[in-house]
Amino acid sequence: MTTIQITRASDVLPPEEVAALQPTIDEINRLKKERNAIVAAHNYMTPDIYHLAADITGDSLALAYLALETDADVIVLAGVHFMAETAKLMSPQKTVLIPDLEAGCSLADNITGEDVRRLKEQYPGVPVVTYVNTSAEVKAESDITCTSSNALAVVESLGVPKVIFTPDMYLGKWVASQTDVEVVLWEGSCMVHERFTGEEISDYKRDMGDILVIAHPESPPDVLDAADYVGSTHGMINWVKRNQPKQVMMLTECSMADNVAEATPDTEYVRPCNLCPHMKKITLENIETSLETMTHQVEIDEDIAVRAREAVSRMLEVGRQD
Ligand code: 13P
Ligand code: SF4
Repeated sequence: MTTIQITRASDVLPPEEVAALQPTIDEINRLKKERNAIVAAHNYMTPDIYHLAADITGDSLALAYLALETDADVIVLAGVHFMAETAKLMSPQKTVLIPDLEAGCSLADNITGEDVRRLKEQYPGVPVVTYVNTSAEVKAESDITCTSSNALAVVESLGVPKVIFTPDMYLGKWVASQTDVEVVLWEGSCMVHERFTGEEISDYKRDMGDILVIAHPESPPDVLDAADYVGSTHGMINWVKRNQPKQVMMLTECSMADNVAEATPDTEYVRPCNLCPHMKKITLENIETSLETMTHQVEIDEDIAVRAREAVSRMLEVGRQD
């Protein structure tokens, strides 16, 4: 169930904890050097990974650009499987490792390439915009991908009156509320964000003196209606840095507040937050093992990769919105 936590910068990674982790961090650093590898970590990684092991941190879009830009030979993707696949799509010559193959995503599990082919038959000529939280096979059937940081810009970049949007219905509804483009939805959702409710947010706002609320667009519409800002994990971090509120309620995965607290020490994070069991499969220990054994290497069938890469590349040309 949703848990309430309060985070301050001083609570995250106390010195004794860092000292205990140091041997593992030293070994990860030694292996990174030996393999010419980097660790790219999503904003939902635990603070030990985010602050001590990662060479780069960011949202899904930042991690997709990183694969194009790094000159490392090996990328350890500390995130979920679709992020590692996107990195491999954009950098096929590099070795991309995911420390645990079970690090999936409820959205990616919700739709197949066959589902997208059927949607295209049902709506002939209507372009398909697909959230990056999907398999390469689903991306290969799509015209363009998007992330939560550019979904609206991607939809509007097509210059068409109607799009099919897969698989996140809440992100799709949020986009539909911001544009004149008609959006055909698919019924997928994120198991972490769908659990927030508008009612609980209104209750918190009433009890906590109208606290500022920022939310990820994978949340249901009544939650987004109650929010003062809606954006990707990158957008939320920047919003806090820009506005420096004394207190903020950040509606997303639990590790986010831990990770941004250090850069925003004057802000107290009050959060009903939910853990993503997929993101939490990645640990310092399996990052070390991954570098040591060079597993698990992400491979994508070439026929799928060519088409999926096109859909991702079109999105990267649109760029970031938040
Ligand atoms: P971002 O692209 O906003 O980082 O979100 C990815 C994700 O999986 C959110 O649940
Ligand atoms: Fe997927 Fe939701 Fe986890 Fe993100 S938080 S990886 S969308 S299940």
